[in-house]
Amino acid sequence: MIICAEDLTFAYNDSLMALQNISFEISAGECVALTGHNGSGKSTLVKHLNGLLKPTKGRILVANKDTATSRTAELASQVALLFQNPDDQICKQTVWDEVCFGPQNLGYDKKKTTTLVQEALALFELTSFEKKNPHDFGYSERKRIAMASIVAMDTPILVFDEPTAGLDSYEMSLLINTLKKLQSENKTVLVISHDMDFVAENILRAISLSAGKKVFDGKLRDLFEQTDLMTESGLLHPQTMQLSKACGLYSSPLSTDECVAAIAEQLGQPSLPNA
Ligand SMILES: Nc1ncnc2c1ncn2[C@@H]1O[C@H](COP(=O)(O)OP(=O)(O)O)[C@@H](O)[C@H]1O
Ligand SMILES: [Mg+2]
Repeated sequence: MIICAEDLTFAYNDSLMALQNISFEISAGECVALTGHNGSGKSTLVKHLNGLLKPTKGRILVANKDTATSRTAELASQVALLFQNPDDQICKQTVWDEVCFGPQNLGYDKKKTTTLVQEALALFELTSFEKKNPHDFGYSERKRIAMASIVAMDTPILVFDEPTAGLDSYEMSLLINTLKKLQSENKTVLVISHDMDFVAENILRAISLSAGKKVFDGKLRDLFEQTDLMTESGLLHPQTMQLSKACGLYSSPLSTDECVAAIAEQLGQPSLPNA
């Protein structure tokens, strides 16, 4: 197991238990969605992975290291964390320097850093922006810069806190291609998201929180079957499932392709032509 939480509990203060007795395991190479309504504890949980927060009780192991006793530098070489708000992350005056910051801090040599930064900029179509100031761009470009910065760190574990918020559909496709590339490299990826269309189409497993407690851990398809839990977690079913239900289809498609196939089957056609 590359991530192992045991009875993880965290209180910001005496009156607020943000996480209560959370246990789960994630294997190397898995891609997992972390879902739940606002304030359920998702960001608090992932801040434990790189030691930004330390458990009040219980523990979390990352690559067999207890985060409570590990040095920050040690954890930074294992976990790259995309903050929910890119402005909490961006601190340099050019896009190039911003994306270099992580790899340089990890002590990579100049050649390796340059290669990683060029690759990450290309993934998010930022190459032509490299000399520009990140603060001169709009929110979604700043989000892409922040995402490129964590991908460039080339860590075994990457955590994306609400990566889809503010992205248009083209920028979403850049993110999805990046997630596919990371999976092909056997990286472990944790994605916090409310966007069930994005999650259903791209991720198989979900861990769901409600009021600081783990209320689900399993296949997304099984989460979608539990309507009460979906409501408790403040989650909507993906549009493909909503459409299928409205059309009286028998299946529960999680992606556009599955939805098209289900409609074709119901109409008695082997397949529909691609749009
Ligand atoms: N820095 C903080 N100080 C005190 N309380 C906080 C802080 N950050 C978050 N909280 C509280 O902890 C709970 C969990 O918050 P958070 O982890 O941000 O939830 P989520 O990411 O699921 O929206 C919420 O009640 C939130 O108000
Ligand atoms: Mg959050």
